Amino acid sequence: MDNSNSSSQSFLMVCLGNICRSPLAEGILKDKIYKKGLDWKVDSAGTSGFHNGENPDPRSIQVAKKNNIDISRQISRKITVDDMLNYDHIIVMDSQNYQMVNEITGGVGMEKVSFLLDYLYKDEHRAVPDPYYDGGFDYVFDIVSKAVDALIETYSNSEQKV
Ligand code: 4NP
Repeated sequence: MDNSNSSSQSFLMVCLGNICRSPLAEGILKDKIYKKGLDWKVDSAGTSGFHNGENPDPRSIQVAKKNNIDISRQISRKITVDDMLNYDHIIVMDSQNYQMVNEITGGVGMEKVSFLLDYLYKDEHRAVPDPYYDGGFDYVFDIVSKAVDALIETYSNSEQKV
């Protein structure tokens, strides 16, 4: 079903650990749609389950807080097949996430999966760099914020899809 102009779209932001990048993507998207009055459902999940039940990485909480967004109460969880059935859009941070989602779900719902940075750089499948080991949380916040602006533009204003 094409929900491009619907007011009730749902988005699942996905990374590996669901403690660094996708919690920021969830928090930033929720903040922006709240300010725009869009009634969209937003959540995030990881492909690994390594950090199930944990709050986001303190460095993600900090960079979000610096930008007046509170992600401190999010809880990490692993993506499920039900997610693929229930969400309209599954948004991954990199190609490893894409491949893992495909493996975990047996390919169910893969037509709903897109790369977050494709909303800025169409069809390039660029990665949001994983800051867990190398840092760069300010950069991750900025690039995710820009891509989320473009994502909102795509799904609130036009029929276009990535
Ligand atoms: P994320 O970052 O996928 O952006 O949440 C990571 C968090 C944890 C690990 C890797 C990446 N880890 O290996 O535990």
